[in-house]
Amino acid sequence: MKALQISPHVYWVGAIDWNLRDFHGYATTRGTTYNAYLVLGKKPTLIDTVKKAFYPEMLSRIKSVIDPKQIEIIVSNHAEMDHSGALEQAVADFEPSAVYASAMGVKNLIAQLHPSFEIKAVKTGDKIDLGDDTLSFVEARMLHWPDSMLAYLEKENVLFTNDVFGMHLATSKLFDDENDENIWMQEARKYYANIILPYSDIVMRFLAQVQQMGLSPKIIAPDHGFVWRKDPSSIVKLYGEFAAQKPTNKAVIVYDTMWGSTEKMAQAIADGLRQNGTTVQLMSMHACHRSDVITELLDAGAILVGTPVLNSNIYPAMADVLCYLKGLKKKNLIGAAFGSYGWNGAPIDGVTKMLEEMGVEIVSQALKCCFVPDENMLTQCEELGKLVSQKLAEKLN
Ligand code: FEO
Repeated sequence: MKALQISPHVYWVGAIDWNLRDFHGYATTRGTTYNAYLVLGKKPTLIDTVKKAFYPEMLSRIKSVIDPKQIEIIVSNHAEMDHSGALEQAVADFEPSAVYASAMGVKNLIAQLHPSFEIKAVKTGDKIDLGDDTLSFVEARMLHWPDSMLAYLEKENVLFTNDVFGMHLATSKLFDDENDENIWMQEARKYYANIILPYSDIVMRFLAQVQQMGLSPKIIAPDHGFVWRKDPSSIVKLYGEFAAQKPTNKAVIVYDTMWGSTEKMAQAIADGLRQNGTTVQLMSMHACHRSDVITELLDAGAILVGTPVLNSNIYPAMADVLCYLKGLKKKNLIGAAFGSYGWNGAPIDGVTKMLEEMGVEIVSQALKCCFVPDENMLTQCEELGKLVSQKLAEKLN
């Protein structure tokens, strides 16, 4: 397998994981890449490694341009196993003179690898002389782990951003301008919603910091997806928009159903929302994945959550998606709960409480239906949809 050149002295030596379909709970329907980069200068330097199982692919690509023993420096920008999984093997085989990570990276790599080799800590502003270029570091704490860091190759103007500005997209096309924008835009949104969203305030501060530092990279090289060469500023701009979490006139109805009653309620609520001009995305957890729900919520202004009651509890699939959404901390949502029950409607009120705990502004108490909705109940559902639409319009104006 061959290394691919991305700039005069930088080669992509990563791996493509065409078959990955689950990244800790996130449905990676288009697979992913684990990008590693080799800077070929006076001091050959490897930026990140790959997931452990993909080490042979990375090694083969490195060998296509250099004897791996010539690698003097390895930088580990992030201690998550999709990037650091092959680090131990790489150090054993290449015997570099130094391995660098952020201070938190050193701590986390020690806890993961229990290494016999030394890892040196670097911080924002630190520089390493590579002989014919300089590598400097920018810590990116909580984007998305405490150890996350970026590395910047100064003369060549390449910013290695690890998880930041990436996407889970397996592609043989290495650059932004070679990939279909309709596809990458979907995957960029999905990646932000599922990985970066809880840290949106930090993203805002980070983007301001990068601007203050005057960084204007010619190439942005993330560790997932492709390399941004035509217009690196496009993904930076998108991050600013995603992080703002500006609501639109769109509602997402997330529900599951046992015998069809909660589904009938969901459809009547959707009808009420549409009548008042709100765009609706109806998402049955029979048909949709939790990671697609949060992606749809990225630009939404309202969430309605419907659940049947099973064994005095909410439906298992609803517990799953609510737990997932809670962790991702989407802001700027209004909402309400609804659902069908047989003899104990209290768990549906519990969903209202869960939404409150997620920071959702509740616009109505839970709408509960005993068994099967009649015309009167369906009218109440429609009215709930209209109410949410009205409250959303007030918020947007
Ligand atoms: Fe791509 Fe946080 O790992």
